[in-house]
Amino acid sequence: MRAFAALAIATAASLIGQALAAPISGRLLSRSTGIVVTPGTVDDIIITADNTVNGTVHPSHNGTVSVPRIQATEKLSFALVNNFDGAQISAYVTGRDVDNNIVMLQADGTWYYPNPQGSTTPIAITGNVNIPLGAKGTTTNIQLPGYISSARVYFAEGNLQFFVVSIDSNGGAGLVEPAANNPSDPNAGVNWGFVELTNNDGGLYANISYVDFVGLVLSMSMIAGDGSVQTVKGLQAGAASSICNDLTTVAGQDGQPWDQLCMKDSNGKLLRVLAPTKYLDLAPDAFSSYFTDHINTVWSTYSTKDLTINTQSTSGDVACRTSGDVLNCAGDNRSYAKPVPQDIFGCNSGTFYIDRANDNAIHYAVAPRLCAAFARTTLLLSGGDVQPSLDSSSYYTTAPTHRYSQYVHKYETDNKGYAFSYDDVNPSGENAAGVVSDANPQLLTIYVGGYAG
Ligand SMILES: *[C@@H]1O[C@H](CO)[C@@H](O)[C@H](O)[C@H]1NC(C)=O
Ligand SMILES: *[C@@H]1O[C@H](CO)[C@@H](O)[C@H](O)[C@H]1NC(C)=O
Ligand SMILES: *[C@@H]1O[C@H](CO)[C@@H](O)[C@H](O)[C@H]1NC(C)=O
Ligand SMILES: *[C@@H]1O[C@H](CO)[C@@H](O)[C@H](O)[C@H]1NC(C)=O
Repeated sequence: MRAFAALAIATAASLIGQALAAPISGRLLSRSTGIVVTPGTVDDIIITADNTVNGTVHPSHNGTVSVPRIQATEKLSFALVNNFDGAQISAYVTGRDVDNNIVMLQADGTWYYPNPQGSTTPIAITGNVNIPLGAKGTTTNIQLPGYISSARVYFAEGNLQFFVVSIDSNGGAGLVEPAANNPSDPNAGVNWGFVELTNNDGGLYANISYVDFVGLVLSMSMIAGDGSVQTVKGLQAGAASSICNDLTTVAGQDGQPWDQLCMKDSNGKLLRVLAPTKYLDLAPDAFSSYFTDHINTVWSTYSTKDLTINTQSTSGDVACRTSGDVLNCAGDNRSYAKPVPQDIFGCNSGTFYIDRANDNAIHYAVAPRLCAAFARTTLLLSGGDVQPSLDSSSYYTTAPTHRYSQYVHKYETDNKGYAFSYDDVNPSGENAAGVVSDANPQLLTIYVGGYAG
């Protein structure tokens, strides 16, 4: 197990430092594009909030147990449709059961309860937790033994390894999952993706998101209790490679390392596309001057006229002006410094970080709208002095902009699935969330490799 900072230094130096140090013109002609993964061992795992689900260890079981007391209504049914042109697909279900124990689903429909036996080094889970899908064109039906929360349904071209680790001295355990942005993760060489869900007394809530990366393409369709159907088609089949091609083209035009968001195996096969916020974990200096001139122009523009933020709440419109290095908004009890690239791409750090305990309601409303405006580069457009007010046809139309988000949306068939955290900011209330939810779900269908409904 390694610390993240150590990886950041080693990776930036060994994988991309050389390419980035070369002059831009030479670099574009000679370098091979993308990060090449080097799958490692348990020693290369980096534990973060993104690749763990933490809970407790089942007190009286070690491995498998069947749970007969569960009522039928708690047993969510899935249809897993294989629409993928490629190798054998395996599915895996991770999460926490009703008692907060970490669980994985076994192929026989019972829970497997991973137990780290007190080990603070991750231990490979050896239960029968691989659920093989049938060939392309077939549907595999599975059912959960009971409610599950903080769950993920993983799909992989080939097999994934999961691990369990002790996280405290009170029986707490972490289920360790694949990490998209660790090029040395044991699963780094596998093409995978997941759907997130929680199913409890309140019903089912399931989502697909591209906030961290684009991998194996997944789509969902849910039959609700009243028989109505909710569908999230999400990305087109083959979207990762289309997005990567567009990023490589734009990197050739602006000299920014967009092409480095593409992660490939040693044969050059594309595995996934990282969101720039995740790439910056590996290469913290990337894009360092990309937004600088734009930010300075925004700052000088709004030193002499108002930037109006429509809070879309009872706080109404809020007038903002820059003064020196900060932007102040009326009634907002914290000002905004100039953002750095990580702030614009991720919308949750630095100037856009929201301190839930100390910020006020106006700050909660302004920060997401301001970040969305920077990510989409709408602040200097005609009408951009009111945010949000412009519709999606004006997003990403001028540089510098969030090319990853632009291209994810370009290949979404129904504009569903967030490409950055505040993709829900828009003037009309259109909803880009890739969510299905219902109090009494009858069936959740997940399509692997493109929607085929
Ligand atoms: C689970 O626990 C580990 C170890 O304390 C921590 O690093 C990780 O962020 C936790 N995961 C979540 C989702 O909070
Ligand atoms: C659980 O299983 C592991 C691996 O088979 C074994 O080493 C351990 O002793 C078992 N623990 C209990 C409490 O049965
Ligand atoms: C997606 O669902 C998971 C699990 O229910 C939840 O933790 C997460 O916040 C959801 N993400 C979004 C963007 O709604
Ligand atoms: C911001 O406002 C909140 C709520 O009114 C208050 O609790 C907090 O102390 C304020 N913070 C600052 C930095 O003024």
